[in-house]
Amino acid sequence: MAGRVQGKVAFITGAARGQGRAHAIRLAEEGADIIAIDIDTQVENVPYATANAEDMKETVRLVEALDRRIVAETCDVRDLEKMKSVVAKGVAELGRLDIVAGNAGVDIVGPWHSMTPEIVRTTLDINLIGVWNSVMAALPHMLEAGNGGSIILTSSANGLKAGPWNMAYNMSKYGVTGMSKSFAQELAKDGIRVNSVHPGGVDTPMAQGIMGVEDSGFVKGMAENPSLTGMLTQWIPGMMEAREISNAVLFLASDEAKWVTGHAMAVDGGLSQY
Ligand SMILES: NC(=O)c1ccc[n+]([C@@H]2O[C@H](COP(=O)([O-])OP(=O)(O)OC[C@H]3O[C@@H](n4cnc5c(N)ncnc54)[C@H](O)[C@@H]3O)[C@@H](O)[C@H]2O)c1
Repeated sequence: MAGRVQGKVAFITGAARGQGRAHAIRLAEEGADIIAIDIDTQVENVPYATANAEDMKETVRLVEALDRRIVAETCDVRDLEKMKSVVAKGVAELGRLDIVAGNAGVDIVGPWHSMTPEIVRTTLDINLIGVWNSVMAALPHMLEAGNGGSIILTSSANGLKAGPWNMAYNMSKYGVTGMSKSFAQELAKDGIRVNSVHPGGVDTPMAQGIMGVEDSGFVKGMAENPSLTGMLTQWIPGMMEAREISNAVLFLASDEAKWVTGHAMAVDGGLSQY
């Protein structure tokens, strides 16, 4: 039986681990080939480890085990020129481009007075401009092919409802929500749908790196202003698995969502719903 994205090619950023890896596997399970990027150096100002080349090797192994092809490269989403060349290489090898998952991101938490200009700049450069770069690198190929397509941009519950002690992240993720709607309006005439996905708490190295860590920015924030702590709680208790976000990405990528564009899809156990 044909998969739900059979024969399509998906470009995924931040694909070495976490949700990006889960998206690569889920889309490959349903018949897509993958162009994957991530970094291999620690991102400055980020208090938990970002991905490395070993992580990406595992993503490659898992996608190839599904008998799908994958072009994986080290590339920082802040480097638009490099990203253009990686996407061009991927399209040359895999033959087309239909789906973009702009997923790479960082989260540097802490009370407002701990947010330095460097933290704000790093966060906006990666989470907001990096996502924009990803779309800009992909669009020429999609438009030239004229097959339409689906772009899914990862925001957060915090792109619909601000989370406490997450100033720079909130700024970036609200930006992604607006960017998605802008691209959706302008690209509808080309048959390209653009939607944002808004996860709540997902069990990935990012969440493990910022929650429940003794000296994390959240712990400092809670000590300073405990009345806001409840704002971190999802209506449905617990943490999601990355694959549960991938299922939403798969739906938006597939033709099942052919009338869905400009939509901000919360997959957050109610976190962003007041
Ligand atoms: N985990 C959560 O609870 C949660 C909740 C809401 C939204 N999100 C968002 O989901 C997305 C995926 O995060 P995750 O939970 O899988 O965490 P993660 O840290 O495991 O994955 C993020 C990936 O992005 C990569 N990355 C970071 N900076 C990069 C750069 N400059 N260039 C290229 N790649 C870069 C990292 O190396 C990593 O592989 C992020 O945008 C994140 O903000 C996560």
